[in-house]
This record gives sequence, C-alpha cells and structure tokens, in this order.
Amino acid sequence: MFTIKPCSIEDVDTIMDMQDHVIEINNKTGRGSWYIVTERRDLVEGLKNNDLLVLGAYCNGELSACIAMSFGDPHGMFKTLLNNYQNNEDKQFAYAKMAIVKEAYRGHGLQRTLLRALEAEALKNPQIKYMGAIVHPDNSFSLKNVLAEGYENKGRAVPDPHPGYPRVLLFKTLDRP
Ligand SMILES: CC(C)(COP(=O)(O)OP(=O)(O)OC[C@H]1O[C@@H](n2cnc3c(N)ncnc32)[C@H](O)[C@@H]1OP(=O)(O)O)[C@@H](O)C(=O)NCCC(=O)NCCS
Repeated sequence: MFTIKPCSIEDVDTIMDMQDHVIEINNKTGRGSWYIVTERRDLVEGLKNNDLLVLGAYCNGELSACIAMSFGDPHGMFKTLLNNYQNNEDKQFAYAKMAIVKEAYRGHGLQRTLLRALEAEALKNPQIKYMGAIVHPDNSFSLKNVLAEGYENKGRAVPDPHPGYPRVLLFKTLDRP
C-alpha cells in the first residue's frame, strides 16, 4: 500500500503544509512545543546539498508521511552523552527528525517503518555508528514508536537542542552485520 522512497524538491510544498498543519493542531491542543519546524530554506538547502535525507511514504502517489535524517552533532548533545569522542568523530552520528504522518494515514505504523528505512540508509554510510532522535517527553505517540525500534531513553537532551522545546534524547547503536 505504501511506497517508501526519498523525497525531492517537488515535495517541499507538501512537507511545509504537513508541518503547518501539525503546528496548527498542536497550538490548538496546548502541544505547541511538541514539534520543531524545519524552515523551508533549510529543507531546500538540505535536500540540494544532501545534508538532509528525507524519506516519504507514498500512497497512490500522495505523500502520506515523512521523516528526515540529519548528520553530525550540531547541538553537542551526543558529545554530552558520550563524553569520550574527539571533535573529528562527529560524523559517526545521525539523527531522525521531522517525523509526520498525515492524520488520515495514522495507525499503520508508518513512523516505525520510516525509522527502519532511515536506519537502512544510515547503514550504507560506514562512518555512521549511532542514531539519535529527540522527542517531547509528553509525546507518547512518538516516544512509543522510537523506543519500539530499539532506541534507549537517555533522559533530557543536554545541551538543550532547541531552547523552549523540552526534549529527551533517544539513542541507538547501529547493529552492523
Ligand atoms: C508521531 C506520529 C508520527 C505517529 O504516527 P503513526 O506512525 O501513524 O502512529 P502509530 O501507527 O504508532 O499509531 C498508533 C495509534 O495511535 C494513534 N495516534 C498516532 N498519533 C496520534 C496523535 N498525534 N494523536 C492521536 N492519536 C494518534 C493512531 O491513530 C493509532 O491508533 P489505533 O491503534 O487506534 O489505530 C504522528 O502522531 C504525528 O505525525 N504526529 C505529529 C508530528 C509529531 O509529533 N512528530 C514526532 C516528532 S518527535
């Protein structure tokens, strides 16, 4: 039913609409800090420069869900967690972000499917050893799915990656064959 494949620049408008909708609903339901928006220019630049891998789940050609993977340790939270890595080793980290499933498609396990697809992509890069994700501590829907994919809850992300947006860090060592 769903085809998983990388999103392209043509998907940017849809992804921005998906994010806007999530923010609108979250603001109405007192969950304004549950989702951190990726700005359009960062999404476009990330896709163009391959700094961001975005995967989509398509149903009859419609983008029904997405997830993205960023690389490195730009917020320094992996460095805090593993206080034993050198600066030049930050390429061993990737983290999942921008997980959205359109309401009409929820309940099919798409976040987990997309997390697994991201992991398969990360494994293609021999430098990447660890995957992370940051989730609002009350976002039980997302937390449950990330934990079910074998991530460990490492507690509050330090330093705070997005001030004003409380986040726990979930962390996984990639299982390489
Ligand atoms: C988190 C999210 C991606 C999970 O979607 P998903 O993969 O479809 O979720 P699941 O398949 O695990 O759904 C399990 C159940 O919870 C329900 N559910 C999932 N997310 C829900 C939500 N935000 N609100 C209410 N119910 C939700 C599903 O409908 C399903 O119910 P069912 O068992 O009765 O069918 C989705 O809630 C979402 O897009 N949220 C907004 C963006 C967001 O918070 N992203 C995560 C940032 S860390």
